[in-house]
Parts: sequence; C-alpha cells; structure tokens
Amino acid sequence: MAELLDLDAEVLHSYLSELTAWIKELTADRPPRRILDVGSGTGTGTFALLDRFDRADATALDLSPRFLHHIGGKARALGVADRVRTVQADLDAAWPSVGTADLVWASASLHHLADPDRVLAEIFTAIDPGGFLIVAELDSFPRFLPDDLGIGRPGLEARCHALQAERHAALVPHLGSDWGPRLTKAGFTIEAERTFPIALTPPLPAATGRYAQATLSRLRSALADRLTADDLSTLDTLTTDDGPHGLLNRTDLTVRTTRTIWAARRPAGE
Ligand SMILES: C[S@@+](CC[C@H](N)C(=O)[O-])C[C@H]1O[C@@H](n2cnc3c(N)ncnc32)[C@H](O)[C@@H]1O
Repeated sequence: MAELLDLDAEVLHSYLSELTAWIKELTADRPPRRILDVGSGTGTGTFALLDRFDRADATALDLSPRFLHHIGGKARALGVADRVRTVQADLDAAWPSVGTADLVWASASLHHLADPDRVLAEIFTAIDPGGFLIVAELDSFPRFLPDDLGIGRPGLEARCHALQAERHAALVPHLGSDWGPRLTKAGFTIEAERTFPIALTPPLPAATGRYAQATLSRLRSALADRLTADDLSTLDTLTTDDGPHGLLNRTDLTVRTTRTIWAARRPAGE
C-alpha cells in the first residue's frame, strides 16, 4: 500500500501541482502556516503542500505507524524534518490533541472512516476561523488498459472495476459520497468544488508501469474469489510477465481517473 500511494503521487504529479497552485490562489488572503494532513498515508499531501507553502509546517496524522515512519524518513531525505510532525491516531476512536491549523487536507481518507460526519465536526473546531479544509476524493482506482489487450477476453479492466464497485458498496459505503452537503452540515462554507479529469497519454511518467502493476495486483488480490479463472490468469500475465504483455513493457498504457476537490472554509468570526 505504501508503494501504491507513493507511485500515485509520482505519476499524478502534474495534477497535484495544479491542485496546490489552486489552493495557493484560494488562500492568497492568508497563506497557511500550520497544515494538518488527515489520513496522511505516506505524506503525498504533506510534502506537496510544504513545497507549495515554504513558510508552513505540517502535521501528518494517520492510523498507520508504518506510514508515519515512512513520512519521517522522507522528511529527512527532503531536508524538511524540522517542518513535519507525525501523529498516530485512530480517528474512529477519538480526535487526537493536535492543536489548530489554518489548512486541513483530507485526501482519499474521509471515505475510510466509520463516521466521517463526526470527524468533519472535529476538523471544523480544529481549523482557525477563516481557515480552509480541502477534501480530495476519488470514486475508484485509476484505469490503465485498452479494452483489447491482445491476451484474454476483452474488457478485463471494466469487469474488475464493476466487481470492485460492488465490493466497495459493502465495505466503504462513504466512497463516492457527495461531500458538499456534509461539509455544509459541519458548519463549513463551500468556496469551490472542482473536478480534475486526469487522462495521461504517452509519453507517460516513468513510474506508470509500476503504478499500473501495483494497482492491478491489488485488484487481483481483492477480487480473487469473484473473477473467473481466465481473468485471473490474464491479470497474472499482466502483473508478472516480463515479456511484451507485462505492464512494465506494454506500450498501450494510459492513466484515466477523476479526482473531485471541495474547498471548504470555516467562516471567519465563528
Ligand atoms: C487511501 S489512503 C490516502 C492517503 C493519503 N491521504 C493520500 O492521498 O495518498 C487512506 C489513509 O487513511 C488512513 N486511515 C484510514 N482509517 C483511518 C482512521 N480510522 N484513523 C486515521 N487514519 C485512517 C489510512 O491509514 C490511509 O493512510
């Protein structure tokens, strides 16, 4: 999972850069100095925002000590260890004492929570009046493949995504939620909602094959009991073959996904 999150950051670098540039415009009247990354994973948001806001410090908050350890190493390697604090906490249990922030970032994390509305209310009180919460969400894993792969039955990736959507409906019911009304209910004012359609075509970032490999390997293990033997075998070829059909060598990959961003503000004076 750590590898997948880091590859996501690497391959979708241009989207992240466009997003943080937009956040800089939104926050131009009071550039953030204290950032809180909620469900930070391996720190994609933490590091992108520290890069964009060079006078800010960041707190990365996550359930996973392993991800937080990874962030510590990356912060040292990037020379920003003095600007990054990590906090381990299970947000399904209780909100930790992290102090206040003027920019909170929650990317692909709210949908994992048992009661995101309770956590949104906690985030509201942790943001300085006038400060921003940026929610970034996705509705599914990215897609990489053409319909006809030259091996197996056409439509493999579409079948995987349909089965994964069924699985997610039961396991992560908040995935794909419309966060706007939920943010308003927590007291925020929605300043903007923006969709970033991502459609990368060749020449692709160097890590794309590994990103596709990590994504489809994850789908394969999640769907092992739902896919046909034929489809599992095609996935094995894609993810492990070092010949022309393997993901690391294919020349027909693209990267297609959509990210939706809600920029919400705690009203000044509240
Ligand atoms: C899909 S990852 C997103 C990571 C990162 N924000 C990114 O965009 O790359 C979801 C993150 O939420 C964290 N998470 C899930 N449930 C949590 C909880 N109850 N408390 C704190 N963090 C949680 C996971 O550990 C994971 O790092």
